[in-house]
Amino acid sequence: MTYAAITGWGACMPPAVLSNDDLSTFLDTSDEWIATRTGMKERRISHVGAIELSTVAAARALACAGLDAADVDLIIYGGVSNDELVPNSASGVQIALGATRAASIDLNTACTSFCYGLTTATAMIRTGVVRNAIVIGVELISRYMDWSNRNVAVLFGDGAAAVVLQASDEEEGVLGSILGCDAEGRQTLRVRGFGCTYANRDVNFGDTIWDFDGQAIFKRAVHAMADASRRVMAERGVGPDDIDLVVPHQANLRIIESVAKYAGVPMEKVMVTVQKYGNMSAATVPVALVEALDEGRVRPGATLLMPAFGGGLTYCSLLVKWGQRVTPIATSDLTLPPATKSALEMVNEIRAQQDPHGRSLAGLMAPAFAESWAHPQPA
Ligand code: UT7
Repeated sequence: MTYAAITGWGACMPPAVLSNDDLSTFLDTSDEWIATRTGMKERRISHVGAIELSTVAAARALACAGLDAADVDLIIYGGVSNDELVPNSASGVQIALGATRAASIDLNTACTSFCYGLTTATAMIRTGVVRNAIVIGVELISRYMDWSNRNVAVLFGDGAAAVVLQASDEEEGVLGSILGCDAEGRQTLRVRGFGCTYANRDVNFGDTIWDFDGQAIFKRAVHAMADASRRVMAERGVGPDDIDLVVPHQANLRIIESVAKYAGVPMEKVMVTVQKYGNMSAATVPVALVEALDEGRVRPGATLLMPAFGGGLTYCSLLVKWGQRVTPIATSDLTLPPATKSALEMVNEIRAQQDPHGRSLAGLMAPAFAESWAHPQPA
């Protein structure tokens, strides 16, 4: 039997930090509101593109695994943030790494993209399609955030991380995956302004209107992640006491606490990064995983649980058996160029380019247009 061991890991966090106090310089919000409602204190704003963030993360993961880029068969780029749609983003990472043999796939299930990618790559290795894969979770949300909307602008941040998977005879890697999609809730999280619906209609890319029903998403997220976690544990004959560490999607500290409670795992066994990085969508789980490894919180042979949810509303929970190695084989000297502007300066530059309150976009929200294109109804 072939398994897909996780043999390398690496993150690339942009250095510029945007604090809650920075946000309150241009939004009617406060450090107190953001911290108590979400657990977030700060997040990162990237000065480089998403392919560059991903390439550095992937190079670090390859060095960690001791694997040459030329031996990579598959790159999965998980996330919503693409520098361009054609050519795809995975191909940009491929050429930057020199992974000349690799198949290169962009995979978008919003915040669950990394976990869906991990499951996809694992299945491809276990069925013999490929032997060595890189799975990336990346997001560059600052570029298309509606910075005039305090309901969403305080919640998100930029970042990237990657893992290397390799075929192995040892029973390790992703051993169980529950994947699903609560599509009846798809309108609760929607970024208007992306995609063909808006093409040739005088909408600047990056001007967005977010439909975001925070409380509905909150309830659906807790239910879906807790249920998927219980199901994946039951499927594998594992109980909450057998879980050594939960590495969850990081959208809100209160969501993480509720999922841990319903899954029956104490918070001491949960990796939390939301205070430092906010919600980085597809990047939250792999960044938290890399930090857990760096902090020595993943012991050899550990059992990990990875619940996540996101737009769609997609959800999942993965059960991962770690191998014996928890330290890198080598490190990469690839790094980002220094940031020359502060996070607040970068955000203010983006704000200055944005159409305030999405006026051009709002004009496109006439019922016939919006309903026919963007609201498919259940059969
Ligand atoms: O990865 C997937 C993406 N998203 C999520 O997972 C988010 C899930 N939802 C949540 O995390 C929470 O629902 C939020 C953090 C988004 C909101 O927390 P909440 O406790 O559900 O607050 P609320 O929406 O009920 O808003 C409470 C109040 C409102 O004022 P009124 O109506 O009570 O006067 C809001 O207008 O807080 C106000 N408010 C804010 N105040 C200061 C909303 N956003 C802000 C803000 N600063 N940034």
